Amino acid sequence: MSFLLKYCREHGVRRLLELGTAEASTSIALAKELPELHIDTVERDPQMIEKAKKNIAEAGLEDRIRLFEEDIAVFDGEGNYDLIFVDAGKAHNDDYFRMFRDRLTENGAFFFDNMVFHNMIYDPDAIENRSTRQMVRKIVRFRREITCEEGFTTAFYDKIGDGILIVSRRNEHES
Ligand SMILES: C[S@@+](CC[C@H](N)C(=O)[O-])C[C@H]1O[C@@H](n2cnc3c(N)ncnc32)[C@H](O)[C@@H]1O
Repeated sequence: MSFLLKYCREHGVRRLLELGTAEASTSIALAKELPELHIDTVERDPQMIEKAKKNIAEAGLEDRIRLFEEDIAVFDGEGNYDLIFVDAGKAHNDDYFRMFRDRLTENGAFFFDNMVFHNMIYDPDAIENRSTRQMVRKIVRFRREITCEEGFTTAFYDKIGDGILIVSRRNEHES
């Protein structure tokens, strides 16, 4: 949270898209700290939606946090975003990158969370549960392939939280 907040402050983030709202704890905390920030956030789980709606209303932030009650697969949103915080199904990071890469503003970036996945990325073969193993392998592949993506730069912060990856749109004028 403090890392995300620092990034938003330093980069003057005004429009943020959050994929995966849960109870809206992060979006509420960010919006409280950053009065200029507007957030679109997407959640499909009906129980989470109820909690998020209640929390956003109680925080008095309905004018700055817009909750989209739908699956990310059908979400369209509105306009471009300075920051896209990807915090939903970890096996879908690559899909979300491709779906939303053209929705970044000129100096926009993605934030991907859980990029070391409780340190499991360091030895996926040791994971007993098959679906967890498959998911962790997808994270490992995503980490490798995203570094080759033309037009973007990557920065890994593996020691922060559960691992953060920032994928920034490369400024055309940079070498
Ligand atoms: C880790 S939680 C999000 C936490 C939240 N970003 C925060 O920091 O407070 C992930 C959420 O993503 C939601 N989610 C997962 N896949 C989704 C999808 N395809 N469409 C919409 N929401 C999804 C889950 O229901 C869950 O509530």
